[in-house]
Amino acid sequence: MEYLRLGVNIDHVATVRNARGGTHPSPIAAALLAQKAGADGITAHLREDRRHIRDDDITALKEAIDIPLNFEMAATDEMVAVALKLLPNAACIVPERREELTTEGGLAVTGQQARLSPLIQQLKGAGIRVSLFVDAEEAELRAAADLGADIVELHTGRYCDSPAGNQRSQEYERIAKGAQIAAALGLEVHAGHGLSFETVPEIAALPEIVELNIGHFLIGAAIYTGLEDVILQMRQLMSRARPAK
Ligand code: PXP
Repeated sequence: MEYLRLGVNIDHVATVRNARGGTHPSPIAAALLAQKAGADGITAHLREDRRHIRDDDITALKEAIDIPLNFEMAATDEMVAVALKLLPNAACIVPERREELTTEGGLAVTGQQARLSPLIQQLKGAGIRVSLFVDAEEAELRAAADLGADIVELHTGRYCDSPAGNQRSQEYERIAKGAQIAAALGLEVHAGHGLSFETVPEIAALPEIVELNIGHFLIGAAIYTGLEDVILQMRQLMSRARPAK
């Protein structure tokens, strides 16, 4: 099985910082700690309302880290301009609504091809790998492949939110099938949203998935045992679910 990368999303370090408006805690310092603890990449989402990560954070992050930066962004001209200046390793396009607490569902690729296509081409033209954050539905995956996306990130939120039992099994089957379809379409497959120590093993066991992006749980659990410790524990669970070749 291919190595499974862990991308650490540091948005919520900025959420805590912004609660008091100062500079503490620093999302850049957290990213460097995550890197030291074995994160394979850092993810950050510059939202339209700048509720957590701000423009200066994203520039400083890109400068500070030695591991790939995955820039989460809405499909807007403003964010494309930021990405073209920043030149992150990858740009993950997510749906964004101001009133949502977090990214609640996958991007509707079907029906939005005309809007997404030029944007994807601009990003790819600048050498940025393009990822689309989608629900594990065949039509969305096919549309992502048709648009020339390099990567799809499968939304694991519904799986993670479902109580253990039938409903969670159904969600798992949907993600497992989606991962197979995406890989067969030649897409690199990532997954994320809502993953925790409890939910990561089953997702990490899916052989087509090569990267997980995890934020809220890690930053929350770091309050108890520290960021390096939770990243080490998460990495262990991921490796255990997926023995190296
Ligand atoms: N992947 C994407 C595309 C996301 O939008 C988010 C949330 O910002 C995550 C992964 C991480 O989700 P969580 O914070 O629930 O781990």
